[in-house]
Amino acid sequence: MKKTLGDLAVETLAGAVVALRADFNVPLDGGRVTDRTRIERTVPTLDHLLAAGAKVVVLSHLGRPGGRARASLTLEPVARILDDLLAAPVGFLPYCFGPEVGDAVAAMTPGQVLLLENTRFLPRETANAPDLAADWAVWADHFVMDAFGTAHRAHASTEGLPRAVRAKGGEAVAGRLVERELAVLGGLLEAPRKPFVAILGGAKISGKIDVIEAFLPRVDALLVGGAMANTFFMAMGMETGTSLVEPERTEVAFRLMETSADRLVLPVDCVTARSIDARALRQTVDRTDIARGETIGDIGPVTVDLFASHLADAATVLWNGPMGVFEVEGFKEGTFGVARAVAEVADRGAMVIVAGGDCAAAARSAGVAPRMSHISTGGGAALDLLAGNNLPGVDVLSDRLRADDTQDGEALT
Ligand code: 3PG
Repeated sequence: MKKTLGDLAVETLAGAVVALRADFNVPLDGGRVTDRTRIERTVPTLDHLLAAGAKVVVLSHLGRPGGRARASLTLEPVARILDDLLAAPVGFLPYCFGPEVGDAVAAMTPGQVLLLENTRFLPRETANAPDLAADWAVWADHFVMDAFGTAHRAHASTEGLPRAVRAKGGEAVAGRLVERELAVLGGLLEAPRKPFVAILGGAKISGKIDVIEAFLPRVDALLVGGAMANTFFMAMGMETGTSLVEPERTEVAFRLMETSADRLVLPVDCVTARSIDARALRQTVDRTDIARGETIGDIGPVTVDLFASHLADAATVLWNGPMGVFEVEGFKEGTFGVARAVAEVADRGAMVIVAGGDCAAAARSAGVAPRMSHISTGGGAALDLLAGNNLPGVDVLSDRLRADDTQDGEALT
């Protein structure tokens, strides 16, 4: 069991510099944040730290700038939103490393927040360079992990820094957001109420093949949509036109169909067009009738009904990944239909977890997001956790001692 904010006494936090790793990897449109969810979800942790009188230095990445500064991926717009959301003033520093950071931290007073610039502007961040983590740890007394969405990455700000903070005697604990994600998803991992139905979509199969394999023995049905399904079609020898497919994964897809035909449910009809464009001429066809020059952009209505029938009795549902290119008019009905079916199951008392930014956005667009039991801030991290993989950003946190680990108040190990 990992330590959480509740394990830190107010005296530990008062006046201390706390490095808070958040996941402010938010969608942007021309420098404007189009979805604030990840920022809002970090507020309870920030409020707790500020009320205790900590000086909070926030680190986050945004996008994949490839280790160099890019004006389009600055965290400055996030700082403005954070400033709106918090009672305390929020400063923004256009650096994430170097003497400027040390100077700015030294000038902070208790109850202040400072957001540093995008950590991925430094190549040493994704390389998890120990010297970068050690430099940050010079000013950090304690570390709080609230970046659930990035907990599956062993980067300098998610893994190296908490390790370095602990090495110097500080605490590294889970924030409120991470604590809740682990509680909800951990419960799903240990003892999901049955029937358990998982819905996986999105563009690629390769990143998710491990997840499909790990899930199949545990679920009663696994519904596959999105471009992921195309690779299964190809494995069945069907025409996929100009659709996105991963030919190198057809063998795995074939094996999964052979071993789990009773639980693996694939689309039976599709919406296709010459191109995925709102003005393109669309047709709804059986999956065996996909024309050579056509691209699959969505699942069809018969598939939505098929998926809904599998969902009807579910007691637990996990949904990750859209069923089609729902951002484009004309290709959203499949994803929205599944979103509505999932919401109806939630209304009937099932535990429904939506994981991943794309399908969370789809649930919001379809107007059903408030009906879901839990919308996870992590896509890849949630799937890794549920597939039984380690999350380096959680594993590194301080362990909570159990009663039987102590004797006369002393830890045995
Ligand atoms: C996410 O949005 O999934 C997380 O912020 C992780 O981002 P990454 O896939 O670029 O590491």
